[in-house]
Amino acid sequence: MMSQKKCESTIQKGGEMKKGEKIYEGKAKIVYKTDDPDLFIQYFKDDATAFDATKRGTIIGKGVVNNKVSAKLFELLESKGIPTHFVKLLSDREMLMKRLKIMPIEVTVRNITAGGMSKMLAIEEGIVLKEPVLEYHYKRDDLHDPLFNEYHIKALGLATDEELDRVDTLSFEINEILKAFFSERNLDLVDFKLEFGKHKERILLGDEISPDTCRLWEKGTRKKLDKDRFRRDLGGIEEAYQEVYKRVMG
Ligand code: TMP
Repeated sequence: MMSQKKCESTIQKGGEMKKGEKIYEGKAKIVYKTDDPDLFIQYFKDDATAFDATKRGTIIGKGVVNNKVSAKLFELLESKGIPTHFVKLLSDREMLMKRLKIMPIEVTVRNITAGGMSKMLAIEEGIVLKEPVLEYHYKRDDLHDPLFNEYHIKALGLATDEELDRVDTLSFEINEILKAFFSERNLDLVDFKLEFGKHKERILLGDEISPDTCRLWEKGTRKKLDKDRFRRDLGGIEEAYQEVYKRVMG
């Protein structure tokens, strides 16, 4: 049985996990230890950055939207058999997650041309691709997250063949699940970025899935309801995040 002391130290009012030492602060999130070495707490900030943090701002309420939207999407994916790091929501801005050793690879999946792909190949935005495109980017802000391929990844020992196969399979499955989910909410999933990591030798989906990490366009009008409103100074940023929140949670 858990002693009274142990119980007090791990569980706060409302059954929340106690936040321990801050172990990492990123541009949009802070990660804290808990009393359980296998569990971390992820705190979502309102801070927004773009272009490797050369552009900075605040999107009021973004942390709450991204935390709750991510939680809802992780639960959806888990229900369809995708293993994620998500354990449970703790508060408006915090979720409990399994400790991951994150792979230094950002996986981007694209359904419609936009952003980096349009720029790199000089293709207009908005062309529906014949099939999804999967890209790997090396997670290195100092190098601007360069595009690289499976040969680089394997040769550098960042992942094995089997691990990359698993990452690819999960990423394409996630795309199908999320595309259908957003489509029911009158949104086109243009593209998104995923991060995977290892927990006890198992590959789990990590990080977040939110308007920061997805491009979401309203069907028909193609109105941008994601971080591109901040990146491109389009205005109506907070409203766009709230609109996604309403559609996802509603
Ligand atoms: P990109 O077109 O700029 O490569 O972005 C592809 C997707 O990845 C887009 O939905 C936004 C997301 N993304 C991130 O989550 N973090 C980043 O640092 C960047 C550049 C893009």
